Amino acid sequence: MPENGFLGGLRRLCDRHGILLVADEVQTGMGRTGKMFACEHWGIVPDIICVAKGVASGLPLGAIIAKAGVMDWPASKHTSTFGGNPLSCAAALATIDVLQGGFIENAAAMGKLLLRRLRDIAARKPLIHEVRGRGLLIGIELARNGKPAIAEREALWKRRCGTDCCCSAEAKASCGCARRWSSPPRKSASRWKYLKTRSTKF
Ligand SMILES: Cc1ncc(COP(=O)(O)O)c(C=O)c1O
Repeated sequence: MPENGFLGGLRRLCDRHGILLVADEVQTGMGRTGKMFACEHWGIVPDIICVAKGVASGLPLGAIIAKAGVMDWPASKHTSTFGGNPLSCAAALATIDVLQGGFIENAAAMGKLLLRRLRDIAARKPLIHEVRGRGLLIGIELARNGKPAIAEREALWKRRCGTDCCCSAEAKASCGCARRWSSPPRKSASRWKYLKTRSTKF
């Protein structure tokens, strides 16, 4: 998640220099952060939004969403072998319907609960430096003596996945020492009830 002010500054910079602002919402879009698109948290309107993954609830689909002025190429100038798959498109329309039927609001509410509970835990665990995020996309930053707790993060990964983290050294360096908690939006809170009990044993 960007810091407050970052996206607004980027939007202004793009406007000043005539640059298109592209928001990759492949992971952050489709309601996960408690809004349909994460950029809405900062009131930003990008020129292009990319979505995939959750857009069709697991059926293969990606989409480029853009203003009419950007999408005005002549018919057949842009093709794709599997583009516009009817089944995937139907799944995407159904996904949008269910998201707008309460899932997004629930992601926002459950995200607030999750942040609160994780911050309670952080207050008792010196290893947790910071908990941040929006909706159901949350990062838990680990640090020891003011430095990224890399060994501890790797150990957590191994305990959860049974293998070493497969990210490249560059990817590990760029994401610092945060572990990510991400979940798809759901309608009901029932799956989150365990937070009230199990998280205290974290
Ligand atoms: C943020 C982000 N953008 C783009 C992609 C690529 O999406 P796709 O595999 O649907 O092309 C991914 C895939 O993991 C992603 O996480």
